[in-house]
Amino acid sequence: MKITVLGRGNVGGGLADLWERAGHEVTRIGREGGDGSDAEAVVVAVPGGAIADALDNVQGIEGKTVIDATNLIGADPPAGFSSNAEFVKSKTNGPTAKSFNNNFAALYDRIGEASSTPSNLWCGDEEAREVVEQLNRDAGYEPVYAGPLENAAAQENFLTLMFGINQGGMGSFFYRIAPPDQL
Ligand SMILES: NC(=O)c1ccc[n+]([C@@H]2O[C@H](COP(=O)([O-])OP(=O)(O)OC[C@H]3O[C@@H](n4cnc5c(N)ncnc54)[C@H](OP(=O)(O)O)[C@@H]3O)[C@@H](O)[C@H]2O)c1
Repeated sequence: MKITVLGRGNVGGGLADLWERAGHEVTRIGREGGDGSDAEAVVVAVPGGAIADALDNVQGIEGKTVIDATNLIGADPPAGFSSNAEFVKSKTNGPTAKSFNNNFAALYDRIGEASSTPSNLWCGDEEAREVVEQLNRDAGYEPVYAGPLENAAAQENFLTLMFGINQGGMGSFFYRIAPPDQL
């Protein structure tokens, strides 16, 4: 798959490495902006408060499938939106999902050490499912569907709990969410 990542830091760069190892073709765009018209999937991995600037600097992503991986740390979503992911959809008008915002980039190189495949939440449009689930699996995660895009704000706010768990001594843990029939 041709993937364009906006943001080539810990998350954008780290996921790009994982996906290239899985055979995908990844274009990495930083704050200088660029063109995403070739992309079959676009992943947004810039600081949460910079999302409007980042999207303004990229051409050719209208109608694309976009996965928003941002978190809002000390920032709010753009005015009029309850989440960054919904803002992304308003700009691109294509299938949109929220994913990769609740797993730590520092652990990307250790996914294979987990005793079972770590889960990774995604919520968003059904039209994005195939791409999001494939890119989760190709990065080493088991995708867990968390509802429609309206749930993106809850998924963004889940970060507070992740930090709480992390500070409670589970600094390098992977979490696994059991499917409903195993709960
Ligand atoms: N780190 C994690 O474990 C983690 C996990 C899940 C989600 N997240 C979220 O993922 C996002 C990226 O985190 P990160 O740790 O990868 O950050 P990072 O290492 O600081 O990388 C940020 C990237 O965003 C680009 N950028 C900064 N300002 C920009 C702007 N105004 N327009 C366009 N691009 C801009 C930077 O461009 P340059 O390369 O040109 O400097 C850089 O490539 C954040 O929203 C973060 O909250 C982080």
